[in-house]
Amino acid sequence: MSKPKVLVARAIFPETIDRLAQHFEVESNQADEAWSKAQLIGKLQGKVGVFTTGSERIDAELLDACPDLKICANMAVGYNNFDTDAMTAHGVLGTNAPDVLTETTADFGFALLMATARRIAESEHFLRAGKWQKWAYDMFSGSDIHGSTLGIIGMGRIGQGIAKRGAHGFGMKVIYHNRSRLDAALEAECKASYVGKEELLKTADHVVLVVPYTPASHHTIGAAEIALMKPTATLINIARGGIVDDAALAVALRERRIAAAGLDVFEGEPKVHPDLLTVPNVVLTPHIASATVPTRKAMADLAVDNLVGYLVNGKPLTPVNPAVLAPK
Ligand code: DGY
Repeated sequence: MSKPKVLVARAIFPETIDRLAQHFEVESNQADEAWSKAQLIGKLQGKVGVFTTGSERIDAELLDACPDLKICANMAVGYNNFDTDAMTAHGVLGTNAPDVLTETTADFGFALLMATARRIAESEHFLRAGKWQKWAYDMFSGSDIHGSTLGIIGMGRIGQGIAKRGAHGFGMKVIYHNRSRLDAALEAECKASYVGKEELLKTADHVVLVVPYTPASHHTIGAAEIALMKPTATLINIARGGIVDDAALAVALRERRIAAAGLDVFEGEPKVHPDLLTVPNVVLTPHIASATVPTRKAMADLAVDNLVGYLVNGKPLTPVNPAVLAPK
């Protein structure tokens, strides 16, 4: 009997392809070619599953053109590349890759916060450029992490991981804002207090964004929100491009309305707003918060487990639109 066909849309670990090949006939993009939407649609003909990485847009137009498709398995916890309503309407399941990246991503959020507040990237560029002639009392003075107030917007698993690092490791006072308040036991574990968004922006020394991207969270931070922040504050975005108005942020950084920002995600990435590239007080990284080998392997494994779970055993592990699974 022939095996069901699946597509892997981007280059991935060879062992991931090997695992898939045990169950499926696999076509993959190991050359990591940039496929247009029309090319992706062409490749998906006859495929029942697709392994996506978060950069392939799955919408009604694609679904209309790919009638065999049953599941899209994202190797990412975020799934704003999925139009979940259209997928549900077409009976196509979406899955994501939560949990396996929580601690790695929280580590990175904290690393970016440290690098930003303590001006590590900026001072390293200065040194490499041969500009370091003498020590000076005020050279690259940043802001303290320990004992400061950490404000987290988006208190899911990654936000909680960052809160614990701040509260338990650095003695920070942690405040958070979220769609819904955590239960008392979780708040105690994270040593975090719930506040309104405005209070958080006004009082935090460091603001970290970890909210999922949805139309409602578009430009959660724009010029008006930045205006509420302390002039000494730092802003960290490890959530998604579009959560911050990057153009407004670049202006605020240039005018020193806040001290600094650390960004791992960008509106329209991999393009970066050109004004961000010319301001010194921002640390820019290319969407690498989950990038350690063990974690990326675990994310890929979970996407494979979802494809096998659904297409072979009828039981996906982490569906994002479970309505597709409801008995008809
Ligand atoms: C995720 O998993 O959503 C990360 O941003 C990596 O894409």
